[in-house]
Amino acid sequence: MEIIILPDPQQAALLAARIIAKELRAKPALALGLATGRTMESVYACLVALHRNEGLDFSRCSTFNLDEYIGIPPEHPGSYRSYMEAHLFGQVNLPAGRSHLPDGMAADLDAESRHYEEMIREAGGIDLQLLGLGSDGHIGFNEPLSALLSRTREKALTPATRQQNAPMFGGDPAQVPARAITMGVGTILDSRRCLLLATGAEKAAILAKAVEGPITAMVTASALQLHPTCQVVVDEPAAAGLQGIDYYRWIFHNEPEWADFR
Ligand code: GLP
Repeated sequence: MEIIILPDPQQAALLAARIIAKELRAKPALALGLATGRTMESVYACLVALHRNEGLDFSRCSTFNLDEYIGIPPEHPGSYRSYMEAHLFGQVNLPAGRSHLPDGMAADLDAESRHYEEMIREAGGIDLQLLGLGSDGHIGFNEPLSALLSRTREKALTPATRQQNAPMFGGDPAQVPARAITMGVGTILDSRRCLLLATGAEKAAILAKAVEGPITAMVTASALQLHPTCQVVVDEPAAAGLQGIDYYRWIFHNEPEWADFR
């Protein structure tokens, strides 16, 4: 794992977008795993700008989102399909049939979960998985005590998560669906590369647990410590609780692989 610390959330989002853009240019048929949440909005804004200004091409790419709420239709304004259409899909040249999210309206959620895993396999596996960090340490919707080998399945959301995501539902946590389909921690770990983005002081304590604490199902993001190619991009406020901050800065400023990004 490498931790890259940028001064503010905009620069952190831009770096994440540039990492994605570099992968997409190197492999135009990239299988790209996507995330939602407020943190990602700036990443998508940067990708849209790279598409418009520098011709970043999504025409051969496929995307797989981490998760979707159960029981709301795709056209519901709070659905992750709506979020993705607004922030990315509707603004770049990604062909309509190439964006995938789990179907939260499926009659048989177990069958839908297996089908989602199958689609990822058929795409050759996910090349790069973008991840946010939940206030309870989740990745995707893998809430505390999710098995670290879990696959795509239905999960009940914690009160903390429903509170965190309430702004998309008129500010009322009771309006946030109680369940979701999410890629499992094992599904995420199968990606060839993981890129986690966390910004803001409110993420500092949980970020420190995720990257420097013990690997535990209580903080599913901590499972990323097992991944051989995982970068964590943060801003200064989110980095405030880290012990090894000087070493992380040294790596970013000295390792040749980061030369293009400094
Ligand atoms: C939701 C998503 C997560 C994401 C989290 C972060 O819970 N299911 O995948 O990591 O939001 O949200 P935010 O960026 O708004 O803090």
